[in-house]
This record gives sequence, structure tokens and C-alpha cells, in this order.
Amino acid sequence: MTVLILGSGAREHALAWLFSKSSRVSKIHSAPGNAGMAGLGSCHPDVDPNAGKAVVALALNIGADLVFVGPEAPAAAGTVDALQAAGVPVIGPNRASARLESSKLFSKRFFVDHGIPTAEAVEFDSFDRFERYIDSRSGKKLVIKKNGLAAGKGVLESSDRAELLAFGKSVFKNDALLVEEFLTGWETSIFALCDGVNYRGLLPTTDHKKAHDDDKGPNTGGMGAICPVPRVDEALAQRIESELVAPTFSGLQKEGLAYKGVVYFGIMVTAEGPKMLEYNVRFGDPEAQVLLPLIKTDFGEIAQAMSEGTLDKLDIRFHDKSALGVVVAAEGYPEGYEKNLPVEPIDQPPEDEAVIFHASTTLSASAGVKTGGGRCFTVTGFGKDLKAAAEAAYKHINRVRFPGAWYRKDIGRKFY
Ligand code: AMP
Ligand code: GLY
Repeated sequence: MTVLILGSGAREHALAWLFSKSSRVSKIHSAPGNAGMAGLGSCHPDVDPNAGKAVVALALNIGADLVFVGPEAPAAAGTVDALQAAGVPVIGPNRASARLESSKLFSKRFFVDHGIPTAEAVEFDSFDRFERYIDSRSGKKLVIKKNGLAAGKGVLESSDRAELLAFGKSVFKNDALLVEEFLTGWETSIFALCDGVNYRGLLPTTDHKKAHDDDKGPNTGGMGAICPVPRVDEALAQRIESELVAPTFSGLQKEGLAYKGVVYFGIMVTAEGPKMLEYNVRFGDPEAQVLLPLIKTDFGEIAQAMSEGTLDKLDIRFHDKSALGVVVAAEGYPEGYEKNLPVEPIDQPPEDEAVIFHASTTLSASAGVKTGGGRCFTVTGFGKDLKAAAEAAYKHINRVRFPGAWYRKDIGRKFY
């Protein structure tokens, strides 16, 4: 089968890497792809994954048997709707289902309507009412969430009146918001695959969202991840399944929103139990870079079962080891950073020890590999447990060299 992957991140490189091991996949294309994905198939750097027409033309031109959507933007932009209209099999949500991620108001109403535990929240679309509410909760730590997609910049946690009001004011220029209670606990990301009817849960993962060691500094898209998560024991896994995952899929069915694709459960484990923070309609990044390599079942077979509605007949198996991924970022990230930095040639480590995934890198015959974003690579190490996986990742991380490259030194440490 010929597969077309949409996206250019390390998550999409991990998808391409896993598809490249499938006995069912003969050709991998990506749009736009990156320099790492170029080593596994054909990249189409000029095709914008958010441009439905262009993606349909490419899919038909290369005879794609399946399109796998990596990031959220093409789903929210309607690329999946365009592919479905053209009769191209696609794994990813259409625009209506993508609201689970693209609208915080929509997902909060969904949690409430389907009895799914989540933080108490109130919606606002104008400043005056919002200001009165903030004053009524004075001194309490609150969380404000911008309704629409904001690339990780749409959430503020604060107890400072002036800061809360200023954030609200900036959101009301073009959007609505939620104010919710601040939950304490620890976070885990759970992923489930769905074929439109049946679903299958995957191993638990945890991201590291803060920029610096000891969870200090600003929020980022994610600086590292682990899989599986030792703290998600059998009892917690069962609560997550029965209180969050099962009601989500029955709610999606009832509302006609179930889709062929990935559902990401962003969860806070509180003293009262697991609560939903958010849904995403895709794999996480960097969670995918640790989760996907632990899937033992042929991923071509899994994707085909998702596309054909036969996931219930498939048993998904995992490698019995741990994975730990460390993101290598550009100087200045998550604020301003330079792009097009020259990357020294990378010697890939032995695959049983570690894999290096590229993000948004470009490749040219004259200039070699250059960086293209803030989070430039993920180095995923493997081991019998998390500590061994951390040793493997950090042993090989020096293979990634470009000016100003930096990374967190403590990924996973609080878990082992
Ligand atoms: P979200 O995009 O909704 O997942 O929010 C981004 C991040 O903000 C989460 O991963 C949490 O770290 C934090 N966060 C969101 N909602 C809450 C909440 N109600 N209480 C505490 N932290 C939260
Ligand atoms: N790592 C968090 C996300 O992908 O949204």
C-alpha cells in the first residue's frame, strides 16, 4: 500500500519510521515532510497540508491508498473533508470532529454533557461579566483558556487579578474563553485509536511541557516524553478507561462525531481521580516519538484496520521495554529562535538503543540538512526500564549537533 503522511514534525517522522517497517507498506510519501522522512520515502515540500485541494491532487497523483494526518491544523482546516469527498481513504478527523481540539468551549460542553470528570468551568464572551467573575474569585488560582487553537499559548494559570484581566482582554479581541478551577496533580497523555466505531487504547505516556529542568521556565510544545508511565498502574488504567475513555467514545457515537483516527486524552490525575484537561484529535508530539516505537503489531495492518472499520478484530501488541524521548531545541525556543541553522551529518545510533527523529528539517544537495523550527529533533532511547531508556537517549544525544542546540537534562527523572 502507498501511504501519504501529512506533516513535518518528529511525530510524523516517527509515523514514517513505523510505516517503513510494515510488510504492507511499499511506498511512503509525505507532505511537506522533513529531511529525516526523505530517507524513508518521497517528500513533497511544496504541498501545504492545510490546502485540501492540493492534498487531494497529490493523493490522486501518487495513488495513495491511505492518507494519515499528523497535526491538528489540516483537520481543523477541512483537509480530511476534502479527501473524503474525493473518495481517498484517510485517517484523521473531519472539521466537525476536530472541534474536540479546536474549540475549548465545545470540548468542555462535551465533557459535561457526557458525565466525564473535568475541572469546573464558566464560559465568557465579554469583558464586563468576566471581570466581575474574576473579582468574585479574588486571590484564587484560576486557569483561563482561549477557545480557539493557539499553538500552546492559549492557556494562563494565575492568581494575579491584573494578569488574568490582561490575558482575558487580549482574548476577547477575537475569541471567547473559559475560566476554570486550577487542578493539582500530575499529567498523563493517553492515546486511543478509533476506526469510526471500535477503539483500542495504547500505552500511557507523559510529556514534559516546561522548557527547563525541574519543570521550570515557560510552557513549550513538549520537551520530552516517556512511555509507559510507571505511575499509571492497573487500577488507574482501569479508572481512566471506565471514567474517561469509554464515555468519550459512546458520546462521540451519540453525537455522530466518531472518526477514523487518534483521540488524545490530556489527563490530570488528582486526589479525587483522573480528570480531563483536553482532547486532541491526533498523536502528541513528543509523545508519539516514544509511543509509536513500542508498537509491535505491524502499523500498516493497524492503519488498514482503522480505515476499514476492523480494529475490533486486531490485537495490538507492544514491545516489553521503555522508551524515553528528549527534544533538542534551537536557542531561544519557545520565544524567538533562528531557523536554517546547519546541522552536522548525523550518524544514526543502533536501532535497539535509540532513534533520532527530525522535526521540520530541510535537505538540499548544496547546503545539507538545516533546522526549520524551534523543536528540531527528538532522540528516543530504549531500555528495559525508564532509567535504562534515559541512559540510552542521553548517550546518543550528542550525535545531534547544530549551533545553539540545547535540551533538558532531566527527562523522566521524576518517574524512576
Ligand atoms: P490544555 O491545552 O487544556 O491541555 O492546557 C494546557 C496545559 O495547561 C495542561 O497540560 C496543564 O498543564 C495546564 N492546565 C490546563 N487546565 C488546567 C487546570 N484546570 N488546572 C491545572 N492546570 C491546567
Ligand atoms: N505534547 C503535547 C501536544 O502534542 O499537544
